[in-house]
Amino acid sequence: MFSNLPAPVQDPILSLSQASRLDQRDTKVDLGIGVYKNSDGVTPVMQSVLQAQNIVLQQQTTKAYVGMAGDEEFNAAALSLVLPDSAIAQRATSIQTPGASGGLRMLAELIAFSHPNATVWLSNPSYVNHQPVMEAAGLKVKHYRYFDVKTKQVDTAAMLDDLAKVKAKDVVLLHGCCHNPTGADLSPEAWKQVTELAHKQGFLPFIDIAYQGFGDGLEQDAFGVRYMAEHLPELLVTSSCSKNFGLYRERTGSAIIVAKNGTHAANARGKVLQISRTSYTMPPAHGASIVKTILLDNDLKAAWFNELEQMRLRLVSLRHNLCLELEKRTQTNDFDFIKQHKGMFSVLGYTSEQMIRLREEFAVYGVNDGRINIAGLREQDLNYVASAIAKVR
Ligand SMILES: Cc1ncc(COP(=O)(O)O)c(C=O)c1O
Repeated sequence: MFSNLPAPVQDPILSLSQASRLDQRDTKVDLGIGVYKNSDGVTPVMQSVLQAQNIVLQQQTTKAYVGMAGDEEFNAAALSLVLPDSAIAQRATSIQTPGASGGLRMLAELIAFSHPNATVWLSNPSYVNHQPVMEAAGLKVKHYRYFDVKTKQVDTAAMLDDLAKVKAKDVVLLHGCCHNPTGADLSPEAWKQVTELAHKQGFLPFIDIAYQGFGDGLEQDAFGVRYMAEHLPELLVTSSCSKNFGLYRERTGSAIIVAKNGTHAANARGKVLQISRTSYTMPPAHGASIVKTILLDNDLKAAWFNELEQMRLRLVSLRHNLCLELEKRTQTNDFDFIKQHKGMFSVLGYTSEQMIRLREEFAVYGVNDGRINIAGLREQDLNYVASAIAKVR
């Protein structure tokens, strides 16, 4: 049975983090894997999450199955975090999934069922798992131009040019905020222009929002998804609680479908549940119980929001300080983009050779595509990392 199988291909980011773990140098700084770390280099359990978890443990009386779509109170609360407008909620449905990853796969399968010939258009570059997940569902993938390596910003004109050629019923995958890997986000104006194109061309936008609250704020980061939901008849969304609730390993996320009307939404939901039934059947309960407990309690919700804001503001401050130190060392403003980017990641625009030099000469671990995780920086590493980046320039 297994003799024909090829040797496993290593995941580039996970193998990088393994290499970093084995590196014994005192100067080591791991800016590879995409998790938030605090000033001590630790990915903490948020206080609000700990409190909610205690409540869940005290109140839990059974481990019996939850429903196929997970916890419906979680579904309603998670939907309102992304799309609070009650008029939109009437033609939307939210299904709990094992992380946004589970949501991506379920919605990809839904697309493949509804329009087997659809092509999914991804930004160039995009999150490393987008293409494999879409292809695993049998979908074709193409890329639209997105990141301008020279300016380190979104090349909106090129993007719109490419999207103007996308056919009706194709799917355009967009990052809701804090673009992974580049850190370069669409402006509100660009969101409006893409929405107009979706109308004109008849393509279906699919928004992956995995970092809500890490960019400009919880509400601000949802601008694009809310604008599109309001102005388009149909929209797909995946959202994640991995980063903004720090629940990575609890696998907590949502697949959201906005349809022309409630009936269409209910039919699409039924299809997704049929697909998940033949896969994991139902999502894990623990993370969703915690999120629900937080979002349904005003005090806990306020405490969670404050913690999230602290993380976001720390990222903003790390970005400013790294940029400042780089400008001091290079006597240029070439690194201004670091403070303009949003969320955890920035692409430096360095070649893989430069990224390898950073790793080999300075023990600074970033991804070969030039991505660094700003949230992997401890304040005490900032000067060292700035010197290393400046030296391999
Ligand atoms: C853009 C993007 N989408 C989805 C995911 C998957 O998140 P989850 O842990 O919720 O599956 C990630 C995780 O890094 C991501 O960066």
